[in-house]
Amino acid sequence: MSEAVDSVSKRRTFAIISHPDAGKTTLTEKLLLFGGAIQAAGAVKARGDARRARSDWMKVEQERGISVASSVMTFDFEERVFNLLDTPGHEDFSEDTYRTLTAVDSAVMVIDAAKGIEERTRKLFEVCRLRNVPIITFINKMDREARDSFDILDEIEQALALDVTPATWPIGMGRDFLGCYDLMKDRLALLHRKGRGELPEDGETCEGLDDPKLDAALPAYAAAALREQVEMARGLCPDFDLESYRAGHMTPVFFGSAINNFGVRELLQGIGELAPSPRPQPAESREVLPGEDAVTGFVFKIQANMDPKHRDRIAFVRLASGHFNRGMKLKHVRSQKLLNLHNPVMFLAQDRELAEEAWAGDIIGVPNHGNLRIGDALTEGEDLRFTGIPSFAPEMLQKVRSEDPLKAKHLGRALQQLAEEGAAAVFKPRIGADWIVGVVGPLQFDVMADRIRTEYGIPVVFEPTQLYTARWVAADDPQQLKKFMDGNSIALADDHDGQLVFLARNAWHLGKAEEEFPELRFLKTRESGG
Ligand code: G4P
Repeated sequence: MSEAVDSVSKRRTFAIISHPDAGKTTLTEKLLLFGGAIQAAGAVKARGDARRARSDWMKVEQERGISVASSVMTFDFEERVFNLLDTPGHEDFSEDTYRTLTAVDSAVMVIDAAKGIEERTRKLFEVCRLRNVPIITFINKMDREARDSFDILDEIEQALALDVTPATWPIGMGRDFLGCYDLMKDRLALLHRKGRGELPEDGETCEGLDDPKLDAALPAYAAAALREQVEMARGLCPDFDLESYRAGHMTPVFFGSAINNFGVRELLQGIGELAPSPRPQPAESREVLPGEDAVTGFVFKIQANMDPKHRDRIAFVRLASGHFNRGMKLKHVRSQKLLNLHNPVMFLAQDRELAEEAWAGDIIGVPNHGNLRIGDALTEGEDLRFTGIPSFAPEMLQKVRSEDPLKAKHLGRALQQLAEEGAAAVFKPRIGADWIVGVVGPLQFDVMADRIRTEYGIPVVFEPTQLYTARWVAADDPQQLKKFMDGNSIALADDHDGQLVFLARNAWHLGKAEEEFPELRFLKTRESGG
C-alpha cells in the first residue's frame, strides 16, 4: 500500500452527538484515555465546574475558554488515527455544530439508557441525515436503572426512521449490569467495577453463545437471559450491513457505561472497523478525492483568540486531499493570495502541537489575522470552491448601535469581524445608520454584545426590531432584480460579504415579494466563503 493510501485509510474523523447529560464529555474523556492521549480521567475539561456554572451564559463563557484546546482531539488506537471534533454544548450554537458536522466522516450518537432519544439528539441526527453522515449508537449508563434494551432499539428505529442492529448485547442492567457480549466478534467482556481511571481488561473470545465459557463466567440466570435475548434480537433486527450503515440508513448499537470505561474499547474498535475513512468532498466543479496528490482543504470553523490583546484567530481547516507538510505555501482561493503555513497547529488532547504533517481527514489550525473565513478553500493552485458549508437565514433579528457615536465606525468593523467568524449574521441596511444582527439562538446575542464590549471596547446596545426574517436574494435577470430593488429599497441590506439581503417584516411581506417576483430566489441558506 502506498503511504498516501495507508495514511488516509487509517484515519477516522468523527463527532459525538447527544442530548446534554447523556455522557458526551465522559465518553470523550474515556476515548482519549483508551487512545493514550490523556493519563487520567477528568482531564478533558472542567466538566464539574461547567455544570455548576450558574447560568447558560456562564457555561457558554467557560466553553469558549476551553474550546480552542478541545475543538479537535487527535489520538491513536490500534494502528488507526482518530480525529474527534467537538461540537458546542448549547443549542443556540447549532450553526456552529452544523458546520462542524460538515467536516466529519461519521458520528457517534450517545443515548442515555434511561431516557432514550431526546430532543437535541433528534435535531442533531437530522443534520447528520441531511449529509448522509453514518452513525454508530452508544447506549450509555447501563450501570443505572435503564429502559428495556428492546424498547430503546425500537424507539431509535421509530423515532429516527433508521434500521437498527445491536453490535453488542448487554448482560443485565443497573446494579446487575455484568457486561456485554460482542455479537460481531463473539467476545464476552465483563464489567469489573474498579477504580474509574483503570481500563477494563479485554474481552474473551467465545465459540458462539453456546460456548460453556459463558456458563462458567456468568450466573445461570444471566447466561440464560443473554441467550434468549440475543436470539430474539437476531430474529427482530436485520443483520449488520456495512453498505447500509455507510449510506446512513442503518446504525449499529453498542451498549456500555462510559463512567466505568465499559464498552468504550468495543465502540472504538467499531469506529475503527466500520466507520468510513475520509470521504470525497464536494466542490463546485468536481469531487475532491482524499487520495489526490495535491493538498486541498476548507475552513469550517473560526475561533477568535481568547486573549483580547491579540486580534488573531484560528481557522480550522479540514484537509480534503493530499499530504500536507508544515511550511507549505497554499493558495487562498478567495483572495488568490499565497498563504505561508509555517505555524499550523494540531490538537493533541489539551495541547496544541505544531503540525509537521497531515493527511486528508485531518484538521489543522491556521492562525491568521482575519483573512480566512468559513467556507474558504486552500489549495496548491487550483481554483476550487467547496460546497455544502452553508450559512442559515437567521430567525431572530436585533438592531445594534453604539452608545458612543464616535465609535460607530469601530462598531462596523467589530461586527464585520464577528460575522466573518460565523458568530452571527450581520446586515447593513441600505437606508439608515443602524446595523442588524441576526442569530439562530438568543444566547448568540449575549455573546456578541459581551465580545463587542470587552474585546473592542465599544458600549453597544441591542434593541428589538419588527423584522421577521432575512433572505438572500438571487436573480438571473438583472432587470427583474433592479425592479425589485427599486420597489423595496427600505427592506434591503448587505451582508458582511456584500451579498444582497431582503429583510422581511412578517411572513406576509416575504410571501408578497415572492409572489410579485417569481423569477427571483429568496434563499434561506447561502454557501459560505469562496
Ligand atoms: P454531557 O457531556 O453529555 O452533558 O454529559 P457528561 O459526560 O457531563 O455526563 C453527565 C452526567 O452523567 C455526569 O454526572 C456523569 O458523571 C454521568 N455519567 C456519564 N456517563 C455515565 C455512566 O456511564 N454511568 C453513570 N451512572 N453516570 C454517567 P454528574 O453527577 O452530573 O457530574 P459529575 O459531577 O459526575 O461530573
